[in-house]
Parts: sequence; C-alpha cells; structure tokens
Amino acid sequence: MKNNVEDQQREKGSEDTAVAIRLMTVEDIPAITAIEEASFPNPWKAESFLSELKDNRIARYYCLVINDKVVGYMGVWLVAGEAHITNVAIWPGFRSKGWGEFLMRHVMQDLKKHGLVSITLEVRVSNIHAQKLYTKLGFKAAGVRRKYYSDNKEDAYIMWAKL
Ligand SMILES: CC(C)(COP(=O)(O)OP(=O)(O)OC[C@H]1O[C@@H](n2cnc3c(N)ncnc32)[C@H](O)[C@@H]1OP(=O)(O)O)[C@@H](O)C(=O)NCCC(=O)NCCS
Repeated sequence: MKNNVEDQQREKGSEDTAVAIRLMTVEDIPAITAIEEASFPNPWKAESFLSELKDNRIARYYCLVINDKVVGYMGVWLVAGEAHITNVAIWPGFRSKGWGEFLMRHVMQDLKKHGLVSITLEVRVSNIHAQKLYTKLGFKAAGVRRKYYSDNKEDAYIMWAKL
C-alpha cells in the first residue's frame, strides 16, 4: 500500500509535497466535518462520523493528508464482497487538481487487495463533476433512485464498478 502511494505521488510530480492516505481516526473528525460542511447540503455531523468509526464494524474510512493537513476523505461499507461508498469529498481549495481521482484509485486498489470485488455509489443527477470522475474510474450507471436526496428531492444515479 505504501509503495502504491509513493509511486502515484511520483507520477503526480510533486516532490516537495508530502502525501499520505491512511485510515481515519477520531482525531480527524473536526477536519472531516469541516470538509463535509463545505461539500454537502445535508452534511453529516461529528457524532455520525464518531459512530461510524467506533460502532460500525463494516465501515472503513480513509483520509487524504497533504503536508500534514487532512484535505479529503472517503468512506465505504463492506457488504458481502461489495464496497458501498458512503461519502467522498475533497476540501474546496484542493478540488480539480487530481486529488479526488488519486484518493479513489488508491482506496479501490486497497479494497481489491482485501478481496472486495465491486464498488457502488449514489450520485446526484446534477453532480456532473463527480460523475465524470466516476466514469473515468470505470463506474457505469446502473439505475436511478427517484427523489433520493431529502433536501431537494433530487434523483440519484446508482453507479457500479468492478474492482
Ligand atoms: C467530486 C470530488 C470528490 C472530485 O474530486 P476532485 O479532486 O475535484 O476531482 P479530480 O481533480 O481528481 O478530477 C477527476 C476528474 O473529474 C472531472 N473533473 C475535475 N474537475 C472538474 C470540473 N471542474 N468540472 C467537471 N469535471 C471535472 C474530470 O473528469 C477529471 O478528470 P480529468 O482531469 O482527467 O479531466 C470533489 O469535487 C468534491 O469533493 N466535490 C464535492 C463533494 C461531492 O460532490 N462528492 C461526491 C458525492 S457523490
């Protein structure tokens, strides 16, 4: 896993940037909730992340750390060989620079290494940016969940990829 990050970091050509992807801890929660609030209309609260980390045995949360600052995260629930993405976000100032792709590729490789065979998520039909990223990573739309989002009753695409 470590070698993978170092290899990909080299590919991104960022010699003076210290990059790490590691599992989230409770100490990360303030940074994570700040990203969450900057990213979603119905952000998860700190208690939700705490409960995920402490009580949910099928949950796995990863952090992207650049120069000692948590700038992104991705969570999954592991169910019967499938990974269900609960949330993925990058701090606004770090978006559209390849970090979301970097984080997701790394997590997908790690999940595959742990025996997971497929990965799925829901995405707002209006979230074209995220959909482009998922398509680039091999996800394909497999259906629609009508009025999935409670804030504006927006539909969600269900997307799947093989690991
Ligand atoms: C969605 C998100 C995680 C993507 O992370 P990111 O770091 O911004 O994305 P990347 O820079 O890695 O871009 C990867 C691909 O996404 C697409 N993309 C990137 N920036 C884009 C933009 N401004 N507009 C449209 N597509 C864009 C491109 O396809 C890009 O690949 P390319 O550079 O080869 O063209 C991030 O934008 C985010 O946190 N958004 C708010 C929260 C959110 O919507 N989460 C997803 C919920 S389902």
